Amino acid sequence: MSINESQKSIKEIQPGGALIGKVKVPGDKSISHRSLLLGAIAEGETTIQGLLPAEDPINTAKCLKAMGVNISPIKNNEIIKIQGVGLDGLKEPENILDCGNSGTTMRLLMGLIVGRQERHFVLTGDQSLRKRPMKRVGNPLTMMGAKVYGRCTGEYAPISVVGTQLHGAVIGTPVASAQIKSAILLAALTAEGSTTVIEPSKSRDHTERMLKAFGANIQISGDMGRHITLKPGSKLTSTKVVVPGDISSAAFWLIAGAIIPGSDITIENVGLNPTRTGILDVLKQMEINFKIIKEKEIAGEPVGDIRIIHTNQIKPFHLDNEIMPRLIDEVPILTVAACFCKGTSKISGASELRVKETDRLAVMARQLRKLGAIIEEKPDGLIIKGGNKFHGANLDSETDHRVAMSLAIASQLAQENSLIAGSDAASVSYPEFWNDLERLKS
Ligand code: S3P
Repeated sequence: MSINESQKSIKEIQPGGALIGKVKVPGDKSISHRSLLLGAIAEGETTIQGLLPAEDPINTAKCLKAMGVNISPIKNNEIIKIQGVGLDGLKEPENILDCGNSGTTMRLLMGLIVGRQERHFVLTGDQSLRKRPMKRVGNPLTMMGAKVYGRCTGEYAPISVVGTQLHGAVIGTPVASAQIKSAILLAALTAEGSTTVIEPSKSRDHTERMLKAFGANIQISGDMGRHITLKPGSKLTSTKVVVPGDISSAAFWLIAGAIIPGSDITIENVGLNPTRTGILDVLKQMEINFKIIKEKEIAGEPVGDIRIIHTNQIKPFHLDNEIMPRLIDEVPILTVAACFCKGTSKISGASELRVKETDRLAVMARQLRKLGAIIEEKPDGLIIKGGNKFHGANLDSETDHRVAMSLAIASQLAQENSLIAGSDAASVSYPEFWNDLERLKS
């Protein structure tokens, strides 16, 4: 489904009723992309258990297939097999690579292909992706000798890459972005000499963990592990990847469970990587009842079940730029939570939200106001006054998956039915979301 078609799907939401039961969220999106990309350039057969069978990773798989990688069909509950082609085995694709709605696909692929000499690649995406900034990836790759071109002097897709021999570099990234960091590290695998990435603050570290698991020579140092050095020369060896449930998908149930009276939800097998658990810190700030059970480590990533119970009188919260990388994708649903807090919540240091699948600060403010929320928009955040009663409204995901799911939870607490246009956008990261919602309500 393209983003234009998704605009046509409309869901009617009937509010009321507690959400009760167990739910297993789909595989982590970030880890799913990385397992496909590293499996593709490793030697031998990589298996992936729990890969997210949603549009974004499927687009990554399609692009890799177009470069000659054999990947078994991506289906729910199936172990995916990839026959790796080795570090230099990717073929020049016969056509443009379509990344759909997925920024991670485009940015990580840029890093993966820039060092493939004598090959030419063109990457594009849907309307939303063609508006998202790409120079933040193109610029550091150019510092390594890459040849990357795009519309508006390299800012926007279609992006064209002429593969070339790269050299290592020391690169400070201006924003804490795992996509930028990962693109540089993937490019560094075939550069001459080592490469160091220095982040302003630590972003999610799935690439570092997985590169290590595939046998790359990678060192993490500096305070909070912000300096990452990759020395090329080691080949990547296939491995068995187990993908935990996505905490960014679990976030919808965490907030739903907390704000909908009578709710009691257990979310199973959630990834608890400390670079992703900012939302749990915010739940503590809000004094919400939750408990992590059965915590363990699976294939290099911490996982556990989380039980969340409805909480009366939720405290307001403050988010700043320090915590932002650890909960960047959870800001839309946290904005919903803020509407039900006793007092005023403040989100700042969040200007990155403006360059996600949509301008999530503007879209969340616009849509939640239709339900009755009191929200003030700032250049880098939102101020949300909690406690106003919600009424039914005609809502719109504006093509953004996380907005669609956040509005679904918000409209559970309205006094009348609501409509959500573009509800199918959820399938970008959580195809079973609407079914899980129905199941927890019954
Ligand atoms: C992602 C990193 C984050 C996040 C995105 C997925 C990743 O983006 O918002 O949904 O898988 O690396 P940035 O790298 O732009 O912060």
